[in-house]
Amino acid sequence: MLMLSAADLLIFVIKSRKMKIKNHTVLITGGTSGIGRELARALAKDNRVIVTGRSEQRLTEARKDGLTAWNCDLTVPRQIEALVVKLEQEFPQLDILINNAGIQFNYNLLETPSSYEKINREITTNLTGTIHLTQLLLPLLSTKPSTIINLTSALGTVPKSDGLVYSAGKAGLRNFTAGLRKVLRNKSVRVLEIIPPVTDTRMTAERGENKMPVDELVRIILRQWERGYQLIAPGKVKFLLLLQRSLPGLADRLIG
Ligand SMILES: NC(=O)c1ccc[n+]([C@@H]2O[C@H](COP(=O)([O-])OP(=O)(O)OC[C@H]3O[C@@H](n4cnc5c(N)ncnc54)[C@H](OP(=O)(O)O)[C@@H]3O)[C@@H](O)[C@H]2O)c1
Repeated sequence: MLMLSAADLLIFVIKSRKMKIKNHTVLITGGTSGIGRELARALAKDNRVIVTGRSEQRLTEARKDGLTAWNCDLTVPRQIEALVVKLEQEFPQLDILINNAGIQFNYNLLETPSSYEKINREITTNLTGTIHLTQLLLPLLSTKPSTIINLTSALGTVPKSDGLVYSAGKAGLRNFTAGLRKVLRNKSVRVLEIIPPVTDTRMTAERGENKMPVDELVRIILRQWERGYQLIAPGKVKFLLLLQRSLPGLADRLIG
C-alpha cells in the first residue's frame, strides 16, 4: 500500500501558500540550453536573469534573448570563484540560485570501463562544482530572503544500470539538498528540489519517445514553485518515488 510520510503531508500543507516570482535577481547555471534556457526565458519576463554555461555560441544566443550570459565551467574551481566575485560586484541583490547545469554519460561500467577523468567530469559538474558554487554564494544569499533550487533526478533515488555515475552524482545532490535545508533552517533561505521527468532536451536527444516537452515542464515548475512546493516532481516522477518506498524491486525493474 502506498503511504504518505509526514514530510509529504507537510509539503501538502505548505503548497497552499502562493507567491508571484517577480522582481528577483536569478542565477541559472546551464541556463543556455534545455530546461535552464526555458526557465530563463520564462523568468526573464518579470525578473533579472543571469545564465552561465561553457559554449560561447549558446551564451551569445542567450544574450540575444536579452539575458546576462557569462562563461563558467563548473569543473574549474577558479571559474566558479571568479563568477561569485563578479556576482558580488555586479548583482549583490542576487536572491535566487538555480543549480541546473548537468551532464549525463550513458554507458554500462561492465561493458565500457570508464577513465578517472570521465567519472570525475560527470561527478564534478553534477555535484562538486554545484556544491562549491552554492557554499560560496551562501554569504550573499543568506543576508536576505532567498531561494536555492537544485535540479536533481529520479535516478538519484533509483539508479539506472547504464548511468551509474550520473545516478550517484544526483543521489549526492539529493542528499546535499536535504542537508542544506537543515543547515539553513534558521535563515531566510528556502531550499527547493526539482526532479524533472524525462524531458525533451539535448541531454535526452538519443532517448526514444515519451519525453515531456520542455515548455510544459517549465509551466508546471513555475506553477508549483509559486504555490510554495518544496519538492517539484512532475509527471511519473512522483509515482516512481512513491513506488521506490513501497515496492523498491518494481521501481528498479522499471528504470532498468
Ligand atoms: N532532460 C531530462 O530528462 C532531465 C531529467 C532529470 C534531470 N535533469 C537535470 O536537469 C538539468 C538540466 O538538464 P537539460 O536536460 O536541460 O540538459 P541540457 O539541455 O544538456 O543543458 C545542460 C546545461 O548545462 C550546461 N553545462 C554542462 N556542463 C557544464 C559545465 N561543466 N559547467 C557549466 N555548465 C555546464 C550546458 O551548457 P554548456 O554545454 O554550454 O556548458 C547547458 O546549458 C540537469 O541537471 C539534468 O541532470 C534533466
